[in-house]
Amino acid sequence: MDKLLLIDDEVDVQYSFRRIFSSPELELHTASSGEEGLKLLAQVKPDLVISDIRMAGLNGLETLRRLRQTDARLPVILMTAYGTTQMAIEAMKLGAYDYVLKPFDVPKLQQLVANALRASRDMKQTVTLQPLLEQGDYDLGVVGRSEPMQQVFKLVGQVAPSDATVLITGESGTGKELVARAIYQNSRRSQQPFVALNCAAIPENLLESELFGHERGAFTGATAQRIGRFEQGNGGTVFLDEIGDMPLATQTKILRVLQNGTFERVGGNQTVTVDVRIIAATNKPLEQAVAQKQFREDLFYRLNVVRIPLPALRERPEDIRLLVDYFLRKLAGPGAKPRSLATSALAALESYQWPGNVRELENCVRRATVVAKGPAILLADLPADLTQAVAAATTGPGAVAPTPPSAAVTNPASAGPEIAPPAAGTRGVSPNWAELARTMFRYARLDPKLKVLPAVERELIIEALKETRGNQVQAAKLLGITRATLRKRVEKFGIKQELNVG
Ligand SMILES: Nc1ncnc2c1ncn2[C@@H]1O[C@H](COP(=O)(O)OP(=O)(O)OP(=O)(O)O)[C@@H](O)[C@H]1O
Ligand SMILES: [Mg+2]
Repeated sequence: MDKLLLIDDEVDVQYSFRRIFSSPELELHTASSGEEGLKLLAQVKPDLVISDIRMAGLNGLETLRRLRQTDARLPVILMTAYGTTQMAIEAMKLGAYDYVLKPFDVPKLQQLVANALRASRDMKQTVTLQPLLEQGDYDLGVVGRSEPMQQVFKLVGQVAPSDATVLITGESGTGKELVARAIYQNSRRSQQPFVALNCAAIPENLLESELFGHERGAFTGATAQRIGRFEQGNGGTVFLDEIGDMPLATQTKILRVLQNGTFERVGGNQTVTVDVRIIAATNKPLEQAVAQKQFREDLFYRLNVVRIPLPALRERPEDIRLLVDYFLRKLAGPGAKPRSLATSALAALESYQWPGNVRELENCVRRATVVAKGPAILLADLPADLTQAVAAATTGPGAVAPTPPSAAVTNPASAGPEIAPPAAGTRGVSPNWAELARTMFRYARLDPKLKVLPAVERELIIEALKETRGNQVQAAKLLGITRATLRKRVEKFGIKQELNVG
């Protein structure tokens, strides 16, 4: 649960916060003065502070200054009811997360709080590399024991302590952001801010203002000066996500920040100097973008000094079971018993190709825990397209020709979709045994321990006995074996007890 500390001497504001932010995921604490707020800090350990600026006694600005002396990372949002925002701007320079004008726009405030809480978590939640799964109680982990992930962990360990720029590449959902945070957590700057910006999520015309800030009147709507992410992250780490989507003009400015830590705010001519470490990530092949002149070559080389390529999940299927275990524990919550997983379901998860990588796996596990009715997740609880894809892919090498699903049962002699199935009622109507066998193998492959022949034989006998209401003579005939053989099999498989034929 996230904790929000509101510092405001107005009872009305405290009241509306209680209304706006009453949620089971958020714990709201209030203080009526800066002094009280600072006192509550140690006690409450909030994830976010929202403070008024004008208050009797210690004002919001001074409160922020003192708070920063003990904690550089705790996000603080300031509020002011007065048109002049000069004080709020001063506060931004002191390291406030943002400021809002009263009366506030509720949805915007909620969005801002959500973002700030996220930033707060990014800074505080420790990211551990390759957690020992047996220990169970961990927060956020980069899970993986496969060889390619070991390489990743080594690289993270090597680059984290330095201030080197890092480029993390990999398909969507491979954990780029998680690795960026692991680097931050393990760096010398871990007590300083971590500011993340998704370059693809911000409209091109706003991106520069977001990164570098702007001066008042820089463009229509720029009613006040604004501090950008680089200034906010001064002393800390700036994570530029999806850097491959950054416009060329902005790339030029980023290059300058990388070279000498300087830039100008949009619409300004005063040079600002910052000390930031840059971690960038992209799922686009930057080499290709360079070749197509969509990405600056010099910036590419500058970013590419240390590169951490993240493997796709299908390249490390051995990690799937670790990840599943990790997600099941995480979903269960601390102390609770996690859901278990049927062998067949795990086998399906392990043979799927995971185009959406770890994110897709995580969503799949989350969905399955919701869908599953019992203590275990079964094959049937997985999405149908997943199990179908797995079944289609595991059609064995013995398969003759790929049979379209519509032609699943046709005459073996007339295999091939272009030949019409035999007319019903003729002697030619016999199932496509090969196709049936392949279906059995598909399922068998989902459970490596299963022995196909005995399993099928057992099932056939049970079905035959059910069909004939337990009449062994008829069942034997149906199966094409002698009654003596049937009796032996029934005994061997211990069918009687569970069939319950009456
Ligand atoms: N090795 C891992 N161990 C545990 N969880 C992981 C791992 N890799 C990724 N995840 C989880 O998968 C999800 C996606 O990871 P993340 O956001 O870091 O991917 P990404 O590479 O940045 O994806 P995108 O390119 O789509 O932004 C997150 O919830 C993350 O916690
Ligand atoms: Mg990402």
